[in-house]
Amino acid sequence: MLKSVLGVVGGSGIYDLPGLENAQWIAVESPWGQPSDSVRIGYIGELKVVFLPRHGRGHVYAPSDINYRANIDVLKRCGVTDLVSVSACGSLKEELAPGTFVLVDQFIDRTFAREKSFFGQGCVAHVSMAYPVSPELVDRVEDAAKAEDLSYSRGGTYLAMEGPQFSSLAESQLYRSWGCDVIGMTNMPEAKLAREAEICYSSVAMITDYDSWHPDHGEVDIQAILKVVHDNASNAQSLVARIARDFPVERNACPIGSDKALEFAIMTVPEA
Ligand code: ADE
Repeated sequence: MLKSVLGVVGGSGIYDLPGLENAQWIAVESPWGQPSDSVRIGYIGELKVVFLPRHGRGHVYAPSDINYRANIDVLKRCGVTDLVSVSACGSLKEELAPGTFVLVDQFIDRTFAREKSFFGQGCVAHVSMAYPVSPELVDRVEDAAKAEDLSYSRGGTYLAMEGPQFSSLAESQLYRSWGCDVIGMTNMPEAKLAREAEICYSSVAMITDYDSWHPDHGEVDIQAILKVVHDNASNAQSLVARIARDFPVERNACPIGSDKALEFAIMTVPEA
């Protein structure tokens, strides 16, 4: 059994979890540069919980400007074993309405202006991303979504786009033709770096809009998105609080090996 440390990366409002004890903001340095913010560390019973605001407090980093490597690195340095990523996203399917929480299980990475690996230049590694989320962690998230009686959907492909502009109609239709379910700007390279850091990852994508494709909903606009985020903030907070409250202090090794992803991934010969 492994001692678990729960990490949460997400928006503001989630760090003041009910029941979080001895919580403090701690600045953690990273050789990968500046993380988005200090981390908020506290305990729920015996479970250590580490929260990082992805865009920084006050939302100061745009998706392309977030230092994803530093963020994952500081979470790793805080001992995080299991990371729940909470983010807003657009819907690419009629049946996935705003307010729904999608427990993403696949990604298509269309970002192109971000550092995506801890490896290269002296130490080369290729981890598997065939199954990017850790199923037992998603079980915990699903149990919490059920317990909180939230509208959620388990499984779904997340199209990660560079932004910051939203998609054109043609792009939105293209991603729909690819079978994608939701679209967002932040889950990549976060998921890839979590895998390289051997942290179990899961993504909760909260739908805020129908992107640009829906004939009855017009084009996506940030004011409407913020309203849905605001209206659903308490749902997101109770979901995270429930995950943390019910999270096992010790857990089994990840059934798909996310927590030992580097075991056969490193190519570089140590003393060559
Ligand atoms: N975040 C929330 N809605 C989005 C959308 N439609 N496209 C990209 N990112 C989003």
